[in-house]
Amino acid sequence: MDSPASRVTVKTLQNMKQKGQPITMLTAYDFPTAQLLDESGIDCILVGDSLGMVVQGKTTTVPVTVEEMIYHGEMVTRATRRAMVIVDLPFPVGQLGVTHTVSVAAEIMKKTQCHGVKMEGGHQQSDSIRAMVDAGIPTIAHIGLRPQSVHALGGYRVQRNGEQLLADAKAAVDAGAFAVLIECVPADLAEQVTQSIAIPTIGIGAGKGCDGQVLVTNDMLGWNSGYVPKFVRQFADLRSQATRAVERYREEVKQRTFPGPDESMK
Ligand code: KIV
Repeated sequence: MDSPASRVTVKTLQNMKQKGQPITMLTAYDFPTAQLLDESGIDCILVGDSLGMVVQGKTTTVPVTVEEMIYHGEMVTRATRRAMVIVDLPFPVGQLGVTHTVSVAAEIMKKTQCHGVKMEGGHQQSDSIRAMVDAGIPTIAHIGLRPQSVHALGGYRVQRNGEQLLADAKAAVDAGAFAVLIECVPADLAEQVTQSIAIPTIGIGAGKGCDGQVLVTNDMLGWNSGYVPKFVRQFADLRSQATRAVERYREEVKQRTFPGPDESMK
């Protein structure tokens, strides 16, 4: 049974900002990973639409659907006891008007039992953020590099427009967002934003001056093959370890050394 007293909430995060305690966030898309992150004391788990690239092997996050976010969000939330679970609104939910956005966010909250949603955008999405917050949906605004707009931005590039970043962050604060996620901006800009707003900032590729950090779990564990952004630190090399284990299994089956007597039924 979930103990509401021990769950990380928007209030916990607010207090952490005030006390200068760093906030930890990682992504998860399935039950065992979410359970591991929760038991390891990660404060927030993001069911990111990065699942399109990390789990489905697509080249962008654009094709991810609401149904897929619900499918993954439900199992992640069910696996946790302490972490605050946040589910992404996939493209183009935030662009289809306030009523549509609130209705999809509410459906995601209802069906996944998550504790908040994330939406890409700041100034231009402020009406939707305000309406979601008014409806009781804790909302984090994702500013800086917005992967859902990769085609409009001309690629996954560092975002250097400080005026725009500050305007987006302030609009998110005014609309009632509980936090701002800042992706791929120069460290000094992210720090400036962090110091000028009262809600927590969570950075990815945004330097150490943010109130918290987020990474894609598959990247930081070295689980996936292919391109890894410069801002990722690989804390493990799980892909090499798993490859060695699978090769050993294959060899042992071929040589009939697996299964042995202890792994057989009498
Ligand atoms: O979708 C996601 O996982 C994200 C992170 C990159 C922050 O938005």
